Amino acid sequence: MKTAAVERPPGTAADTTTTARPLNVGAVRADFPILSTQVHGKPLIYLDSAASAQKPQVVIDAERHIYERLYANVHRGVHDLSMRASEAYEMVRGKVARFIGAPSAKEIIFLRGTTEAINLVAQTYGRANVAEGDEVLITTLEHHANIVPWQMLCDEKRASLVIAPINDAGEVDMAAFESLLSSRTRIVAVAHVSNALGTINDVASMTALTRERARNAVVVVDGAQGVPHLEVDVRALGCDFYCFSAHKMYGPSGVGALWGRKTLLDAMPPWQGGGDMILSVTFEKTTYNEAPFKFEAGTPNIAGTIAFGAAIDYLTNLGLKAVRAAEHDLLAYGTAALSAVPGVRLIGTAANKTSALSFVIEGVHPHDAGSILDYEGVAVRTGHHCAQPVMDRFNVPATIRASLGVYNTREDIDVLIRGIKKVQEMFA
Ligand code: ALA
Repeated sequence: MKTAAVERPPGTAADTTTTARPLNVGAVRADFPILSTQVHGKPLIYLDSAASAQKPQVVIDAERHIYERLYANVHRGVHDLSMRASEAYEMVRGKVARFIGAPSAKEIIFLRGTTEAINLVAQTYGRANVAEGDEVLITTLEHHANIVPWQMLCDEKRASLVIAPINDAGEVDMAAFESLLSSRTRIVAVAHVSNALGTINDVASMTALTRERARNAVVVVDGAQGVPHLEVDVRALGCDFYCFSAHKMYGPSGVGALWGRKTLLDAMPPWQGGGDMILSVTFEKTTYNEAPFKFEAGTPNIAGTIAFGAAIDYLTNLGLKAVRAAEHDLLAYGTAALSAVPGVRLIGTAANKTSALSFVIEGVHPHDAGSILDYEGVAVRTGHHCAQPVMDRFNVPATIRASLGVYNTREDIDVLIRGIKKVQEMFA
């Protein structure tokens, strides 16, 4: 039996501790090679981290290191390389658990990302527990990934999808949310942070209300936009499932995690069938592995998962408190700057929000604005942001969304504002 320390890519830690240092954005920017590149001859101003965040050198190096020094399939070989790759891979499971305050690494399932995680819960827990006449409660501000899987489940089971409304600021109407909970509610699925509006939902209160008024319901949290910006503790949130993607928190794309309470995971049927999710297979009968492996059929994204660990280290070393404080200041600066431009209207003005500045410019289609901004080197997302019901709620076809990450500065916002003024001049 191998007892040596688990091999780690350079620059990654066995475990990480949070620090209280304020964010040194200059030093952070130097960690991201892509930020020194140019777009259309202009320095890149990257304001699209909600779509996908850029990668620091340690994450890039970690992925490269796996392929150069540590690559083999996991959980399948007795040879040295496979054992070492498996240990490095499994170490990340513990890291993910600690990162979100989960009680056990056995409750962490590696998947392609948030979308796959929500589909897994809908198709395993949901299919087993939702019946005709039951209800699944979501909110108006959900991403399509937290709408469509529940719609599909409700269609199949003849259950109802119930929607808690939001107010003009983009906040969930908590009185309405409470009133929609009942003994018929089987699943409550909410975003931790809205990708289109930046609203931070009060998930702890939503969970407490669910426990009070809908005792048979579980709470599923889409944490894709939460983990890059907030300290997450699933025990404090009190939810039953929490899922997120590595690529929005400075890790690789194509990998993410689902946390679920062990008792729920143990009782859930498997999802996809294949290698690694079984204990034994004959043509007559297959017995399944235990969670989390029961839900991880097939060869996973091995290098991506190990590099996901490097991203967790990176963010944890910066300190989520420091990240939150810096992004909060920048959000306030951006909100004031955008509000001061005549003809610009912010969409999403929740009292408690983070990271996203969605807005429209009077008389200009968001896609036109996005293209002009691109020629200034400014990368923003324009469109419905996979949240069409949010656009309908605010009666706009689309918005321009500037979304913030750890590397953004006030100068980035200043360049954005100058770009918006150029757009307005062109459409004057
Ligand atoms: N969900 C991602 C976004 O908000 C893609 O842009």
